[in-house]
Amino acid sequence: MATNSRGQFNSRLGFVLAAAGSAVGLGNIWKFPFEVGAGGGAAFVLIYLAFCFLLCFPVMISEIAIGRKTQLNAVGAFKKLGHHNWAWIGLLGILAGVFILSFYNVVAGWAFGYFLQMVQGNFEIGQNFGSYISKWESIGLYGLVFMGVTSVIVSKGIQGGIERAAKILMPSLFVLIIGLMLYAFTLDGAMDGIEYYLVPDFSEITGEVIYSALGQAFFSLSLGMGALITYGSYVSRKQDIVRSAAMITLTDVSVAFLAGMMIFPFVFSSGIEPNGGAGLIFATLPGVFEGLGPILGIVIGATFFLLLSFAALTSTVSLLEVPVAYLVDEKKIKRPVAVWGMATLIFLLGLPSLLGNGAVEQLTSFMTLYRDGQEQMISFMDFVELIASDTFLPLGGTVIAIFTAYVWKKNNLNAELMEGRETDSKWMMSYINFAVMFFCPIILGAITIITILERFFGIQVF
Ligand code: PHE
Repeated sequence: MATNSRGQFNSRLGFVLAAAGSAVGLGNIWKFPFEVGAGGGAAFVLIYLAFCFLLCFPVMISEIAIGRKTQLNAVGAFKKLGHHNWAWIGLLGILAGVFILSFYNVVAGWAFGYFLQMVQGNFEIGQNFGSYISKWESIGLYGLVFMGVTSVIVSKGIQGGIERAAKILMPSLFVLIIGLMLYAFTLDGAMDGIEYYLVPDFSEITGEVIYSALGQAFFSLSLGMGALITYGSYVSRKQDIVRSAAMITLTDVSVAFLAGMMIFPFVFSSGIEPNGGAGLIFATLPGVFEGLGPILGIVIGATFFLLLSFAALTSTVSLLEVPVAYLVDEKKIKRPVAVWGMATLIFLLGLPSLLGNGAVEQLTSFMTLYRDGQEQMISFMDFVELIASDTFLPLGGTVIAIFTAYVWKKNNLNAELMEGRETDSKWMMSYINFAVMFFCPIILGAITIITILERFFGIQVF
């Protein structure tokens, strides 16, 4: 039995909501739609869904099991179950988390800034998105506020901060998205959007579509960097890990799916190009809210961006919790010191991403990489995203699966999963075993290696 001076979730619902709160965020509502747009529509959606359920779900179970078994942070957990030499997997994850948070916080600043614009009834902001994000002073200020609020929550620890916030905010966001989706269906052109989103054109599938769908699946589920190891370490032994992981995955995927169902009708009825990149929802939605009329537009618009900011907050909290838990457990640093120190560092690391959206040319056109064999200029923020989220997370997922199956060993995984298991259905356990032993290491590993070769070195494998 674990003794816990380090805090624990109160209930299964608390854990599932906190983990789903980590998963549901800008990744679902901001990133997913524009990745679908860049990936040609429904074909991307299909691949993304397959990756979430077939490849990511077993990795999620492994992460939570590793966390609960060891009751430790991402680095400590690998050391305890394996050997000192395995600490690097956790460190890789921490590095990924630090970099992800550095740019995530900037986008959270956009969302919060949009809330303030909506309150003032400024619906034109959608057309001015490009110049809006280049104003680094104001976005930087919102980012600072965001990082500050994140730090306050993380310094309060598990029950007080994270669990309570997630319980109220997550369901509200869900309801609002469904409401907006129903409204979207009534608009002219809505059907074109739905067709684009749901009817796959298989000729759109390229290597790039596969890599970005995989990166998106990991990013969206908060996997591959130890966030769920860390949250898993606060889970009680009475909980059914498999069932909790299923609930987290289903919640996250449903929110992303519904966000797409809401956005694409809006995009098509507003005559906006779906492959317009990172500004997609920010360019589209203000015009939609304007169409609701002045009062309702302000109410719904402001509520939407406020809830989006909250969804981002439950994710930034989990991103910051990973390095903080490491510093507290392994380096014996006091929680508040670890929190504020890390937050400051990450904020500073985010400055080039902040400045690379128009303010500073060298950071806006930062470097060339390859996309389906073509050279492409990308910004500093895109670069960090490609390295941390699209590369480190699937890489982390691959090594976590290999570690679970061959270092910790599948029997130990199974024993951990059986604690608290509420059913004795065998097929799910068989799939999990098959996936961590063969499917994830091979398929995940292969796609990750090919991604690195193609994107960073321009070597066309296919
Ligand atoms: N899953 C979060 C989102 O979709 C982002 C995230 C990634 C959070 C990795 C934690 C770890 O917004």
